[in-house]
Amino acid sequence: MSKEKKIVHYPSYLQLDKILTAQLRESELQNAPAHDEMLFIITHQTFELWFKQVMVELETIIDFFNQEYVRETDVALSLKRLERVNKIFDLITQQFAIIETMTALDFMDFRDMLHPASGFQSAQFRVLETRLGLPDGRRINKNFIESLTTLEQSHLKDCMTKPTLFDVVQKWLEKMPFMEEGDFQFWEAYKNVVMSVFNKDKEDIIHIAIATDEEKNTRLAEIEIAQKQFEAFFDENEYKELLSSGKRRFSQNATLSSLFIYLYRDYPLLQIPFQFLQNIVTLEQNVLLWRYRHGLMANRMIGARIGTGGSSGVGYLVHTAMKQKIFDDLVNIAGMLIPRSSIPPLPATLANKLGFVYSEK
Ligand code: HEM
Repeated sequence: MSKEKKIVHYPSYLQLDKILTAQLRESELQNAPAHDEMLFIITHQTFELWFKQVMVELETIIDFFNQEYVRETDVALSLKRLERVNKIFDLITQQFAIIETMTALDFMDFRDMLHPASGFQSAQFRVLETRLGLPDGRRINKNFIESLTTLEQSHLKDCMTKPTLFDVVQKWLEKMPFMEEGDFQFWEAYKNVVMSVFNKDKEDIIHIAIATDEEKNTRLAEIEIAQKQFEAFFDENEYKELLSSGKRRFSQNATLSSLFIYLYRDYPLLQIPFQFLQNIVTLEQNVLLWRYRHGLMANRMIGARIGTGGSSGVGYLVHTAMKQKIFDDLVNIAGMLIPRSSIPPLPATLANKLGFVYSEK
């Protein structure tokens, strides 16, 4: 018996009756219709819809990485989804330019009717930053939970108990198997190169004929400080110190693996992991850009006034863009790179493992 094909129509499938009747202007309800309030509502709603799509992608990426063994195909799929998330952020950050066609005076026509409504009440945004891995210690707004409803609070608290994107990416990096092969130990080889670069810099400074002793000593002292910072990366105890003081979040092994991937990214097996990490860095930038752009827009709308949610307003928003970083350790790997010509060559067996080998058998 053939199954009758179900008919699906555009308006009912997209539930347009719900979506297109969900813009109730408060100014109209209060008999003082403000033209720009429609733009204000639709802009917020589209942001919330895109946040929802971001969460759909993000949760699957976390699931893929939250496995004992992360398959290469899942890393590739996660990369595609992360690229999508980044495109969404590109788009929504541009949306602020649309709401900026409303002027501060237009906004005043209805702003006072919206108390105490505030972006602080966006449960999706709180879930998003939490699932990315923003730790409570780095939050500027320590009372972030209180603005949510009881149901939203319990959902958010539930999210806080689960592994975040930061956690699963870190775990995946920590387990990367390629850094030792026979006598070759990447950490040691890299350390030797970096130290020889420092020593060469010191030699060069000592022999600069036109520099005074004072100038030379200042420069030597700077190199000494940089060298000490590098040494901390190699020393387990000093690294633990950096972690416990909050100066770093990424574990020593995860840092080392990221560095390895960054340096040897041209090997076929490391290309997708490298692109994935690059996209995490882009995501970090995108979230911070979103925060900053939102802050600039808010500045234009409310000047130095306090926010409807009770924050200091623009000052708070800009501060979040500066401080609420999640993957800054990964971003800062750039500062640990060495020139291509100095990268320690890999032993042939390891190079083979990281390449594609064609075999007819
Ligand atoms: C006229 C436009 C807007 C102004 C003046 C504005 C202003 C503010 C201010 C001052 C805050 C700080 C919290 C407070 O005290 O209320 C805030 C937070 C927030 N706003 Fe907006 N906003 C605007 C539009 C938007 C739009 C279109 C979105 C899109 C979803 C949005 C999402 C948020 C979110 C998620 C927060 C919480 C940020 C955090 O705590 O890190 N806002 N907004």
